[in-house]
Amino acid sequence: MCGIIGYIGKNSPKEILLDGLKNLEYRGYDSAGIALRNENDVQVIKSVGKIRALEEKINDMELIKANMGIAHTRWATHGKVTLENAHPQQAGYITVVHNGIIENANELRENLIKNGYSFYSNTDTEVVAVLLNKYYEEDKDILKAISQTLSVLKGSYALGILVKDIDKIYAVRKNSPLIVGIGSDEYFIASDIAAIINYTNKYLLLDEDEICELSFMGVKVFHNGIIVNKEVLTTDLIYEDTSKGKYQHFMLKEIMEEPDVCSKTLDKYLDNDLLIDLSKYEEIHIVACGSAMYAGMVGKSLLEEFASIKVDVECASEYRYKKVFYNKKTLVILISQSGETADTIAAMRKAKENGIDTLGIVNVKTSTIAREALYKLFIEAGPEIAVATTKAYLLQVLVLALLTIKAYNKDVSSLMEEARKLPRLLKEVLEKEDLYKEIARTICSSEDIFFIGRGIDFSISMEGSLKLKEVAYIHSEAYQAGELKHGTISLIEEGMPVFSIITDEDIKDKTLSNVIEVKSRGAKIILITNDDKIEKQDFTVVVPKVNKLFQAILVVPVLQLIAYYTALYRNCEIDKPKNLAKSVTVE
Ligand code: AGP
Ligand code: GLU
Repeated sequence: MCGIIGYIGKNSPKEILLDGLKNLEYRGYDSAGIALRNENDVQVIKSVGKIRALEEKINDMELIKANMGIAHTRWATHGKVTLENAHPQQAGYITVVHNGIIENANELRENLIKNGYSFYSNTDTEVVAVLLNKYYEEDKDILKAISQTLSVLKGSYALGILVKDIDKIYAVRKNSPLIVGIGSDEYFIASDIAAIINYTNKYLLLDEDEICELSFMGVKVFHNGIIVNKEVLTTDLIYEDTSKGKYQHFMLKEIMEEPDVCSKTLDKYLDNDLLIDLSKYEEIHIVACGSAMYAGMVGKSLLEEFASIKVDVECASEYRYKKVFYNKKTLVILISQSGETADTIAAMRKAKENGIDTLGIVNVKTSTIAREALYKLFIEAGPEIAVATTKAYLLQVLVLALLTIKAYNKDVSSLMEEARKLPRLLKEVLEKEDLYKEIARTICSSEDIFFIGRGIDFSISMEGSLKLKEVAYIHSEAYQAGELKHGTISLIEEGMPVFSIITDEDIKDKTLSNVIEVKSRGAKIILITNDDKIEKQDFTVVVPKVNKLFQAILVVPVLQLIAYYTALYRNCEIDKPKNLAKSVTVE
């Protein structure tokens, strides 16, 4: 679930592997390790905590003169965060790094123990190492040993494998990303292109059921023992895209990029056909996780109101296991920044197995959802490094608004005109940083915060509340404004911040009554609205008023910046919040 990089080639692997790990740090991790190999030795160095700790440990050691290696950042799933459980994991001839989860690891481990094998860690990964070694010792045929091992594994994996007596690196993947980088006389494996972008922009995508063999001579990919030809792709990503530039944090950089990426996405889609005709469908299921699901909730309001299509929004972890009623005219929309979220992938595959059309709204173009969905719409966010999504969420909402416009049976020319103004209006919204800082200063020592809103404003509240929880570690809840008095209002206390989002003219007065209810119980109101005539509250942020289709796009950045500054004043680790990972490739 976290990061892998591997290197074989003319240069010293140590620096390249450490540099790669640093470029993967943004994904969140709890321990790290590296394995260096030459013809005689494999040297493994691991540490708990930050890459810097690993680097210091490595610099204090005598290292073997290596010409290949693999490295890993771990986000523990099986076994505590300890040195033993950090990767690489080893057994006999085999050294392995693994992203993902082996679901039947316990069962496999018990069988192996019965047959005399022993384990030093609690990880599922060690089971893979032990199996690979067992099969390799039998025939000394590594391709066969890998196939035999994979045939008994259930779950998800990206694996980088070193073998003590083979001058090669092996790589395989299932439900977890892994690419193969092609340099000049040097080759890489990486769970994310950011790890190798300093060295090459050429890569190939590894498919499931393929085994990749990297040697000093080049890369071979096998499918059922037969070599397959793979297309070498080129990324237009450059190193600057994955660095912080003048900003203190990626999160702030990415929020400030919103006008630009909004402009790019509009250029791509506004005048072009989206290549999907929604009029063919009677109903839509939007399936996603976290913020992507909250973007979907905004999309539901828009598609239902403007395009009159029935939309259900479900979180993917529920959808994949529940009974779903499809008809031939159902479209399933999967929303995912990474395109690698395990539950969202499973939901997509479920729809496909039922013969249902799928549309992926995705950022990462090489991702599994981008490759497997029937239709795809790419948001043009560029790399999003901060764990908490900002610009990608915004573009997911934008693309859903554009989909709605294209499905709208009326003259949409004025809406298109309005859409073109969004980048400029976004800049205006982002410029009011002083006000957001003042709000952040006021709420940063609160322990509980509420958000209230109705309809689309409730969906926006969900995202605002999640941002505060994620980056500022403040307990926060979003409520449908009218629902609060059915119980939760008992929690409102003197001085408690309550964000109230009011952009929907039709139900403005209703939400205002709810504001009065909480205010009279002592709440401090932070009102975010598009109505400059509305009665002012403790804090009032007025954003430019636009058509409802686009209004969320001008409100959410306010909440993102308030969350950012609140986290800053609380000294939180903003880009890599504790316990979170950028791409959740396990269930
Ligand atoms: C975003 O701030 C969160 N970390 C999280 O909710 C995220 O949106 C969710 O995990 C889905 O990720 P995806 O868009 O890559 O599928
Ligand atoms: N499941 C493995 C472990 O807990 C790998 C975790 C990861 O993807 O980082 O060690």
